[in-house]
Amino acid sequence: MEVPQGKFDLVRFPYSGNKTLRAWDAADEYLLAHLSEMGRDHTEGDSTADGSLLILNDGFGALSVSLADRCPQMLSDSYLSHLAVGENLARNAIDAGTVTLLGSLDEPRGPIGTLIAKVPKTLALLEDQLHRVRPLLVPGALVVGAGMTRNIHSSTIDLFEKIVGPTTTTLARKKARLILARVDAALDPGPSPYPTTHHLDTGLDVVSHANVFSRKRLDIGTRLLLEHLPQGLGTAHIIDLGCGNGILGTVVAQQNPDCTVVFADESFMALRSAEATFRRTLGDDRYAEFLVTDALDGIESDSVDLILNNPPFHDGHVTGDAIAWRMFVEARRALCSGGELYVVGNRHLGYHEKLKRIFGNSETVGSNPKFVVLRAVR
Ligand SMILES: C[S@@+](CC[C@H](N)C(=O)[O-])C[C@H]1O[C@@H](n2cnc3c(N)ncnc32)[C@H](O)[C@@H]1O
Repeated sequence: MEVPQGKFDLVRFPYSGNKTLRAWDAADEYLLAHLSEMGRDHTEGDSTADGSLLILNDGFGALSVSLADRCPQMLSDSYLSHLAVGENLARNAIDAGTVTLLGSLDEPRGPIGTLIAKVPKTLALLEDQLHRVRPLLVPGALVVGAGMTRNIHSSTIDLFEKIVGPTTTTLARKKARLILARVDAALDPGPSPYPTTHHLDTGLDVVSHANVFSRKRLDIGTRLLLEHLPQGLGTAHIIDLGCGNGILGTVVAQQNPDCTVVFADESFMALRSAEATFRRTLGDDRYAEFLVTDALDGIESDSVDLILNNPPFHDGHVTGDAIAWRMFVEARRALCSGGELYVVGNRHLGYHEKLKRIFGNSETVGSNPKFVVLRAVR
């Protein structure tokens, strides 16, 4: 990537599936050009009183690496993005310690003089982030949002207007656009409305932070898998892989008082939501683990009896099944002999064939017109 800050070697985090995809986009380039024009990309001319630089939602590190001179904080809900930033700093011989990585529920260090935000796919995440960061902004802080025009809507601009202050947008450049907001000190946007709790017709109270999958309702796929959970699991060791707000793992733990459940997800908000859902349902004394990780990294091979999985079919703004494939491969590694993987997915995704290739078997245990629940045995 060649930008005013220099020339950088950037890779997407492995297994993107599509090798032609770049690790940055025109919105990153536009943002970096703008910061250069504003003289906000180097430490020179930036006294402590001006506040520090906070980057939100840097996908693979394009912003963190280019702006490393300013020792930024980078806050993201994605553990995979944290790994990608680390990888790309190393590729460009930049000390890992120059960028402070924060999970989406960590409190950034203030005061903040420059806030740059890549617009995330989930509007609620942006809403929550702006609420959290606003009290840390210095008066006169530079606040710039950036995204591809197809991902910036009037509702996106309204959020900046409602939470930060008067907002304008720039002309599109290579199909990217910037959102420029001025901090209005008199504005009182109140606290973030997240997390939210909703009561399912299955009897469960589910807690969801802003960036969690199917935050407002029970996903049809998740519902189908709930209807086909295996019973009588005794002391089984179970993983809810890609747990989201933790519905699957919590229900299986509720039905099997002696089993242990590990909740795993790459989203910091998913893990916190799952923990809250689980604790609300089963109290503080019931044992469970909550692991922020990539697929099943950190889980011992041959150690698990049952894995429940409703795989993601998006990677940021990109659709694909590379992550699902990797989850199935990892599930086979982690399961003990005779252990089972239960997967729910849209029929057209062809998980049946993938499981057959990886496990040598795959059986349909439930279906409706749109979804199938499949079982593969190690
Ligand atoms: C379709 S949602 C399912 C959520 C939940 N199990 C449910 O059924 O409501 C898929 C989940 O996988 C998570 N995920 C995506 N990529 C991941 C990865 N590489 N490792 C672990 N989890 C991942 C997402 O954050 C998301 O919570």
